[in-house]
Amino acid sequence: MGREKRFSKLPLDLSVPTWMKGNPSDGEIANLARARRPGVSSNTLADTGRAIMEKLSPDTIRRGLTTRSMGQEVICYDSVSSTNEVAKELARQGAPDGTLIIADEQTAGKGRQGRSWFAPRGTSLLMSLILHPSLTTSEIPRLTMASSLAVANAIEEVTGLPVQFKWPNDILLGEKKTGGILTEVGLSGDVLDYAVIGIGVNVNLDVSLIPEIADVATSIAEELGRPASRLELLRILLRLMESEYDLLLRGESPHERWMTRLRLLGDKVQVTTPWGKESGRADTVDADGALVLRRPDGTIVRITVGDVE
Ligand code: BTN
Repeated sequence: MGREKRFSKLPLDLSVPTWMKGNPSDGEIANLARARRPGVSSNTLADTGRAIMEKLSPDTIRRGLTTRSMGQEVICYDSVSSTNEVAKELARQGAPDGTLIIADEQTAGKGRQGRSWFAPRGTSLLMSLILHPSLTTSEIPRLTMASSLAVANAIEEVTGLPVQFKWPNDILLGEKKTGGILTEVGLSGDVLDYAVIGIGVNVNLDVSLIPEIADVATSIAEELGRPASRLELLRILLRLMESEYDLLLRGESPHERWMTRLRLLGDKVQVTTPWGKESGRADTVDADGALVLRRPDGTIVRITVGDVE
């Protein structure tokens, strides 16, 4: 389908999430945790313990947004399978650069390496940005690095807390993961047709209520000791994302700045790759995003896909 297809004609669900109806006015925040009543069994935001009620809608997101393109086209879902899946479809249909797809809940959220990404409704930033950059396929990792930098800087601006990266692109607060990025691309031969930057950030998630991730994950609210505003974080992130993207399009690689936030450099690590485990010292991450590992026998291996422990 050609780029000329009008974006506004797409069959999109722009409805206001049902859980927002009758709730505080735009931007107003109510700590639902306080409203939690003993003995009432439900599966609401309050169950996450640190919930904030904010309306994520095209209007509330665009209000005060100073970007040229990032988030100027925005589609909000109450619940959707995966914002990345929607974004890929819209990108193929010609949605413009900077189109934002955002949801309060994903029923099939995707993480890296075929894993799933779970977040209770309303607790997290679950979003995808559609981009059509003129980059070569080998430059795609730059896009993910630029996006991680934007997320890290946005979290720091909102919280004042230091943010670090774990290779390849986990976003850490302290030792624990608070966000991740899933970049998916569409190619026409060797040419990049579109990129979808999927971003998940645990904002007001009470990770202790999710035993599967409680040991390794955290959230902004956990680390701050109080809930944070998803809207504020989102607007700052969109602004910083636009600056990073502009730099990238001018040919500037984010690699050096990205490296300054990277943990585990020089440490002995074990890496689980789709082909098996590798151990050694994490020497560096090269400009193409590969982890350069020095094995105990001194040989060097470049790892492009995997998880570090
Ligand atoms: C990771 O595994 O670290 C990457 C996680 C990326 C999750 C986000 S949530 C919004 C977007 N939609 C998805 O299905 N995944 C990404």
